[in-house]
This record gives sequence, C-alpha cells and structure tokens, in this order.
Amino acid sequence: MICKTLKYFSLISLSILSFSSLFSSCYYDVNQELYPKPIDSGISCDTSKATYSGKVSTIIQTNCNACHSTAVNSGGVSLEGYSNVLAAQQNGTLMGTINHSAGYNAMPLGAAKLSDCDIANLNAWIHAGAPNN
Ligand code: HEC
Repeated sequence: MICKTLKYFSLISLSILSFSSLFSSCYYDVNQELYPKPIDSGISCDTSKATYSGKVSTIIQTNCNACHSTAVNSGGVSLEGYSNVLAAQQNGTLMGTINHSAGYNAMPLGAAKLSDCDIANLNAWIHAGAPNN
C-alpha cells in the first residue's frame, strides 16, 4: 500500500517536473527571440533540412526575388539562382540585410523581418559551407 502510494506520488512529481521543463523551454524560446542566436534555434524550428534547394531558395524566392531577380535587380542586386545568392552570402550583404545589421539596408524592404526559423535555416546552410545542395 505504501509502495503503491509512493509510486503514485513519484508519478505526480515526474509530471510536475516535465511540466516545469515544458514551461522553461517556453521561456527559453522567448529568450531566443530577444537575443540573436548563432546557428540553430533548436526548439520549434527544424533546421535539419537546411539545404539550398530545400529551404534557402524557397526563403529567397518568397521574400526577396520580387525585387531581386535578373529582371528586377533593385540596388543592382539579383538573388536569382545559387551563384547570386552565394555571392551575396560571401560579401556579407545577404545576412547583413536580413539580420538588419548596422551599415546595411534592412531587408526585405518594407516588410517584416524574416522569421527566426527562416534565419536559423539560412544560418544552418551557411554553417554547412553554403553548398549548392
Ligand atoms: C520591395 C522590394 C524589396 C524586397 C522584397 C527586398 N529588397 Fe533588397 N533591396 C531593395 C532595394 C530598393 C534595394 C536598394 C537599396 C535601397 O534603396 O534600400 C535593396 C538592396 C538590397 C541589398 C544591397 C545591400 C544593401 O544594404 O542595400 C541586398 C543584399 C538586399 N537588398 C537583399 C535582400 C534580401 C536578402 C531580401 C529578402 C530577404 C530582399 N533584399 C528583399 C528592395 C527590396
């Protein structure tokens, strides 16, 4: 009987523990929105498929290509195709503009900053060497 009660009690404390870790991960999430993160937000964002064709080109197409293509190269910048995106990555302007870093025009122009998850995927791709994959 005591044993059963103990077992029950430990089950309850276990669930309390897992609940509190759930909340602490929420807190961490909020923290990550406040502070820039290097590579991977880790919690609600899947960066395991951060390839050029799988993620990067889609993010650029959705948010940038309307103003930065071969036909419409605002500011003289085309982000159409891998080699153009790679060039912008290598000269620092891709993430400088996306991160709204000092000295760069904030992009996408006139729209909200990219989501943390999009930025985490771009960073993961860059961290992998920005391959044409
Ligand atoms: C609504 C149009 C528009 C969109 C969408 C847009 N840009 Fe731009 N971008 C511009 C214009 C216009 C310039 C030229 C500078 C200026 O006038 O602000 C520019 C300049 C740039 C430059 C040159 C560097 C600099 O600091 O000016 C880069 C790099 C760039 N954009 C990247 C991006 C990326 C990456 C995205 C998507 C996340 C994006 N842009 C989305 C209009 C746009």
